[in-house]
Amino acid sequence: MQALVLAGGEGTRLRPLTLSVPKPVMPLAGRPFLTFMLDWLGRHGVDEAILSCGFMSEAVERVLGDRHGEVALRYVVEDQALGTAGPVRLAADHGLIGDRLLVLNGDVLTDIDLTAQIAQHDQTGAAATLALLAVDDTSSYGVVPTAENGEVEAFLEKSAGPAPTDRINAGAYVLERKVVERIEAGRPVSFELEVFPAMVGEGLYGYMAAGYWIDIGTPERYLEATYDLLADRVQSTLPPRDETGSLVAEGCITSGARIGPMSVLGHHCSVGDRSTVERSVLHDHVRVGRDCALTGAVLAERAHLGDRVRVEEEAMVGAGAKVADGARVERGARIEPGERVE
Ligand code: GDD
Ligand code: MG
Repeated sequence: MQALVLAGGEGTRLRPLTLSVPKPVMPLAGRPFLTFMLDWLGRHGVDEAILSCGFMSEAVERVLGDRHGEVALRYVVEDQALGTAGPVRLAADHGLIGDRLLVLNGDVLTDIDLTAQIAQHDQTGAAATLALLAVDDTSSYGVVPTAENGEVEAFLEKSAGPAPTDRINAGAYVLERKVVERIEAGRPVSFELEVFPAMVGEGLYGYMAAGYWIDIGTPERYLEATYDLLADRVQSTLPPRDETGSLVAEGCITSGARIGPMSVLGHHCSVGDRSTVERSVLHDHVRVGRDCALTGAVLAERAHLGDRVRVEEEAMVGAGAKVADGARVERGARIEPGERVE
C-alpha cells in the first residue's frame, strides 16, 4: 500500500517554531512529528510513503532519511507550492504512483482506522473515500455533508455561516488512479476547492471515522496534542513517562528544578535550581537559568533563558532566542528566532 503525505506547507500559524524547523519534523513529545504519522500508516499496511515537500524539504529529508520502520520513504520536492492536489499529480508524473493511493494531510496526529476506511472504499466501489470526523467547531475545516449511503453531498472548505453538518474532512483520502488523472498538471490545484467539489455525485464517498484526531497546525493544538500523547489519549509508541506524566530525554540536567506535570524536555536541556517547568515543551539544547517559572510555554531549539525569567501560557520562544535575567514573556507572546529579550 502506497501513501502520499502532504508535507509542504509553510506552517505559518506555528511561527516562530516553523521558522527554524518545518512542521513535518518539528519535535512533538520529543520526536519528529511525522514519525507518529508513519507509525500509524505502517500499522495499516502502508509500506511506501511519498513525502511531498516544498518548504524546507532538505530538513525533512535529513531528519527522516529513506526508511521509517517497515515504511520506505521517497521524496518529491516542488519548486513552486502546488497546493494539496498538485503534488499528487507531480508524483504521478514522476512515475511514482500505482493504482491506488492514500493521501494524508501531513499535520494530523491520529489513530483512526484506515483499514476500515479502505474496506468501505472497496465495498462501495468509490473513486475516492474521505475520512470524516464530527467536531464541535467546524470553522477551520472542510465541512462535508453526506447522504445515508455515505455519498458526499457537498464539500465546503472553510466557508462562513452555519455549517449544514458537524462532519469535517479529516485529511485522509483513499483515491483510485482515475482521480489522480483528473488533477491538472503544472499548476497549483486544491483537493478541497477544486477536485472534491467537482467530484460530488461521481463516486465521492465519506467514511465516518472514530478515534483520536487533531490537526497540530496551531500553537493551542500543538500543546493539546502534546498533552494528549503524554496522557496516552492517542495510540503511540512513546516511551514511558515519569511520575509527573512528563518525558525528559536522556542527557538533561534538571537536578535542582521541578519538572512537570505534563512537560517535555528534548535532548541536552538544562534547567537551573528552583526553576519550575509545568505543561511546557522544551526542544533540544534549551537552557533555562535559576528561579524561572514556565507554564504552558514552548521553547524552540537552543533557546536560552537567564535567571528569574517567567514564561506564560502559549508563549513561544524561537530557536536560539535569548531572554535576559528577570524578564517576563507574556501569555501568547512570540519571540523570533535569535531575538534578544531584555
Ligand atoms: N506539498 C505541499 N504543497 N503540501 C502542502 C501545500 C503545498 O503547496 N500546501 C499545504 N500543504 C500541506 C500542509 O503541509 C498540510 O500538511 C496539508 O497540506 C494541509 O494544509 P493546511 O494548510 O494544514 O490546511 P488546513 O489545516 O487549513 O485545512 C486542511 O486540513 C483540514 C484538516 O486538518 C483541509 O484539508 C481541510 O479540509 C481539513 O478539514
Ligand atoms: Mg492543517
